[in-house]
Amino acid sequence: MEHKTVLLNEAIEYLNIKEDGIYVDGTLGGAGHSKMILKHLKDGFLYAFDQDDYAIDFAKQVLKDFDNYKIIKSNFRHLKQKLNEENIYKIDGLLLDLGMSSFQIDDPSRGFTYLKDAKLDMRMDQSQALTAEEIVNTYDKDALAKIFYIYGEEKNSYKIAQRIIDQRPLTSTSELVKITDQVNYKEKGHSAKKVFQALRIAVNHELGVLEEVLTQAVDMLNPGGRIVVITFHSLEDRIVKHFFKTESISQLPKNLPVMMDDHVKLKLITKKPIYPTDEEMQNNSRSKSAKLRVAERTSYENSTHRS
Ligand SMILES: C[S@@+](CC[C@H](N)C(=O)[O-])C[C@H]1O[C@@H](n2cnc3c(N)ncnc32)[C@H](O)[C@@H]1O
Repeated sequence: MEHKTVLLNEAIEYLNIKEDGIYVDGTLGGAGHSKMILKHLKDGFLYAFDQDDYAIDFAKQVLKDFDNYKIIKSNFRHLKQKLNEENIYKIDGLLLDLGMSSFQIDDPSRGFTYLKDAKLDMRMDQSQALTAEEIVNTYDKDALAKIFYIYGEEKNSYKIAQRIIDQRPLTSTSELVKITDQVNYKEKGHSAKKVFQALRIAVNHELGVLEEVLTQAVDMLNPGGRIVVITFHSLEDRIVKHFFKTESISQLPKNLPVMMDDHVKLKLITKKPIYPTDEEMQNNSRSKSAKLRVAERTSYENSTHRS
């Protein structure tokens, strides 16, 4: 299935694109956002990251009429290093539309979906060594339960972990679903939803890389440059919310003779998250869990201390 871009107009509007700016799309995917960014650029340039070969091949087709962009096949956790290699030290905006694209979820061979039988894989970067199969078959009970509980908020995490230990080796998604069906038979939604989310987050280190990229982005943004993040579950959203909040509050003792605002790196643009419209949610069920948050880089480095 083709990927339907989520919160397209909202994300572009909040990026506040300058036509000669340098922008980064950290999650190229089907290139819906990237294409719109490029339409707003004149002398500007876009760097687009993705770690998935299929997404990159697909996006190249979508962007074939543009030449002011470069695709970087890498995890966005290497934002700073990869941009520095291009002699880019400052950027005017970063967009992150987290998670996976529909073509990754819907391709049974990738092992992301509990709806089809496949190998337990779940790697976004197919060259990475760690797979869901390795986690399921080698981690001990506590480690598995922790993953299910923390990343999936799965209340039966220990029971599921125990059954996995009893029945391994497991190689396919359907073997894992059989276990979650047995344990979560009372669950209203799909019995495996939380466990699959948890494994995907663990395989791809999704929460850690998000913190890394946000930290690097703050240091690379020009004053007035914005970070726009679209998240799809509460764990990601919590990280973004907390990061934006921390960076927008002064860490200095209150009695120091400086303007408080001079020493915060970010200004919150969205105090509350932006949600898709009812119309978008109706047209694209994947958008239902989306939340968009925005922060803007302040110009504190140029500020002067009050005497
Ligand atoms: C939701 S899709 C992006 C869709 C895109 N905004 C569009 O309009 O078509 C997310 C994409 O980001 C990629 N991705 C997710 N996490 C990543 C990471 N840490 N580094 C690089 N790419 C990542 C996935 O491979 C996927 O292609």
